[in-house]
Amino acid sequence: MTADWVIVTAPTDRGDAPARALTTALGRLRAARPDIEFRVAVLGGSDTTITEALDDATGAGARAVLLISGQTLGDAKQDSWIARIVGHWLRTRPAGTPTPQVRVAPLLTDHDGFAGLLERAIDDGGTPARTTTAPILSPAWEQVPAFTRHVLVCRGPRCSVEGARESAATLSRALADRGLGDDDVLTTVTGCLFPCALAPVMAVYPDGTWYSGMRPDRVERLVVDHLAGGEPVAEWIARDLRG
Ligand code: FES
Repeated sequence: MTADWVIVTAPTDRGDAPARALTTALGRLRAARPDIEFRVAVLGGSDTTITEALDDATGAGARAVLLISGQTLGDAKQDSWIARIVGHWLRTRPAGTPTPQVRVAPLLTDHDGFAGLLERAIDDGGTPARTTTAPILSPAWEQVPAFTRHVLVCRGPRCSVEGARESAATLSRALADRGLGDDDVLTTVTGCLFPCALAPVMAVYPDGTWYSGMRPDRVERLVVDHLAGGEPVAEWIARDLRG
């Protein structure tokens, strides 16, 4: 069955730029293949997750979804996670609900067209490298923000499947609503923090408090009680390093 939806995954943990670049490239493909709905998704990070894209495809009545890794070089860990996440999504579909056929495409490097891409780059010749680019250091980055608490928000593959994207967005909004900036509570989105079975995971330092199951509906209380009030929320603690 020919795919009527194509989901192209962007490399994870590398910010939003790969997803933006793919979105631009897919714009050209959309014009050539109007019969296919194209989406970009990420394993982790701030963009649409693979499961969200699969949900969108299902909601739109897709019959066949093809998942393509947008990485030009394979990444065994990422490929394994893509397969796991699709398997998890299929296993957790509500019984009796319509589910599109989902297939995973081979690596781009497995296609003859990959050599053609390199050839085109060689023919293009590139642009001269410059010494006038921005420096790799800036005085603005010499100061450690004067925060009192640092929240690590896991956006690894498993936490992303379990809703970490919305949890991270809810945290940003809740902190902003209270006027809490980087000099009060510094938040850092991370890759996998290890205890994936407790997803979504957040950790608060210097308290050393690790929280499990941090879905969006828990974030407001985390901010009020712990991040602003200094009182950890005991019932959600997975591990408290201070004992
Ligand atoms: S993906 Fe979050 S702890 Fe592993």
